Amino acid sequence: MDYKSNKGGGLKVSFEQAILDGYAIDGGLYVPEYLPEINHEQLTAWKTLSYKQLAFQIISLFVERSIISADELQGLLDRSYDTFEKEEVIPLYPLKSRSHTYIMELFYGPTLSFKDVGMSFIVNLVNFFLEKKEERLSIIVATTGDTGPAAAHFIAGKSQLDGWILYPKGLITAEQERQMTTLPHTNIHSVGVTNCPEGGDDLDVVINQLYAHQKFKSKLKLSSVNSLNWGRIMMQTVHYFYGYLQIASSVGDLVNFSVPSGGFGNLCAGGLARKMGLPIKNLLIANNQNACLHRIFSEGVFSKQPIIETFSSAIDILVPINFWRYLYFCVAGDTQKIKNWSDTFDKTGRVDFDIITQKKYQEGFLSKSVGDPQTLMTMQQILDDERYLLDPHAAVAVAASDLLKDQLGNDPLICLATAHPAKFPQTIGQLSHINEVLKQTKHASIEQAKTKCQRSYTCDHSHLYEALTNAMETDWGLRHTSND
Ligand SMILES: Cc1ncc(COP(=O)(O)O)c(C=O)c1O
Repeated sequence: MDYKSNKGGGLKVSFEQAILDGYAIDGGLYVPEYLPEINHEQLTAWKTLSYKQLAFQIISLFVERSIISADELQGLLDRSYDTFEKEEVIPLYPLKSRSHTYIMELFYGPTLSFKDVGMSFIVNLVNFFLEKKEERLSIIVATTGDTGPAAAHFIAGKSQLDGWILYPKGLITAEQERQMTTLPHTNIHSVGVTNCPEGGDDLDVVINQLYAHQKFKSKLKLSSVNSLNWGRIMMQTVHYFYGYLQIASSVGDLVNFSVPSGGFGNLCAGGLARKMGLPIKNLLIANNQNACLHRIFSEGVFSKQPIIETFSSAIDILVPINFWRYLYFCVAGDTQKIKNWSDTFDKTGRVDFDIITQKKYQEGFLSKSVGDPQTLMTMQQILDDERYLLDPHAAVAVAASDLLKDQLGNDPLICLATAHPAKFPQTIGQLSHINEVLKQTKHASIEQAKTKCQRSYTCDHSHLYEALTNAMETDWGLRHTSND
């Protein structure tokens, strides 16, 4: 299967090229030239598969065996998920206090967030392709708190990769920061950026500038494994299939999903899984007060508002980039439309979608914006009712589903728990009766990181571009000299 930019520029590329490039050459996002269709028989045959077996089947729909053999794919999957704490990889926990409601625990990877699920495989995949070509890449990612630790963890020590991880200093938790800065590996460079008026979105702007600088990009072999990389979206479709097959009584029954959302990467994957044939009833967009997606789905407006700091800081996101990727599939692949809308947004900071387009992308989605008091109240309720601790992001998903209960009906609901509560001790500290679940509030890896030295660059946002290009070029130069 070939891949192309959702903005229409450049030529078609192979799966391998799409994964190694990250962004398409015109700044667009790679999309597969068609979406594979999964029928009832296939879904039924997949019902008893483990997470890894299912991932094997789904990835095989998007990449030919001539690019990755069955043995190679199996090896990559084994390497990617053997470090997860639970054999099921992403177990489901049935809530006792809400009927037909399940928490999908996506946080058993090494850095305790759902980012590990896609990142582990993609980083291994990128390294695998590069080893074959005997090439090296500089991977650059921006984070709102969870992508960075996952990228740093999996890139650390990889033979063909350097990782440059940018984070908005002060806008992520100390626990998340330590996950990136306590790694001893010399191929990891974490950069804490001060004074980011728009949080993590500011960092994406600088990354775009680096990408646009063709000479720099090709000299330092820049790429990314953030959710702009098609591979991350492809991997995230797997947890929708897995959750559905675990919960649906029989194949064909409808299931709802509630997803704490910011950049729309996770939901883009859910939307594509449904377009491939998975019987999802509603995909619930659970936003915090930074209601960028809620505005798009309820008012038809893609716009940027000042950032609000919330308890669910990883979804303090203003620009849901992956919405453009999903929209491409809703407008029958009309790349010119996607280009016009995203250019308008880049120029004016706002796009008003026409009614026909709104109807197309709204289909099968519900949305809600949840405030911090509601998030905390939901965490407290579930804690009191069943001694189960949600992290603030999972709580946004559960709270949104409570608010939309009437529209969800009696079909089962899976709420995605995208992070482990131990990453958010300050919010958790505000709950009463927390001593009763003390074990859930801590995690060995988070505690161990407290005793390690931290190593990172610090840089002010106002001169990030110059500082970063200098630091990256210097490091690149040193490596090449020492390799010579
Ligand atoms: C814990 C957590 N939940 C949810 C999200 C939102 O995911 P997405 O940006 O794919 O909507 C993120 C990251 O952005 C996250 O780190």
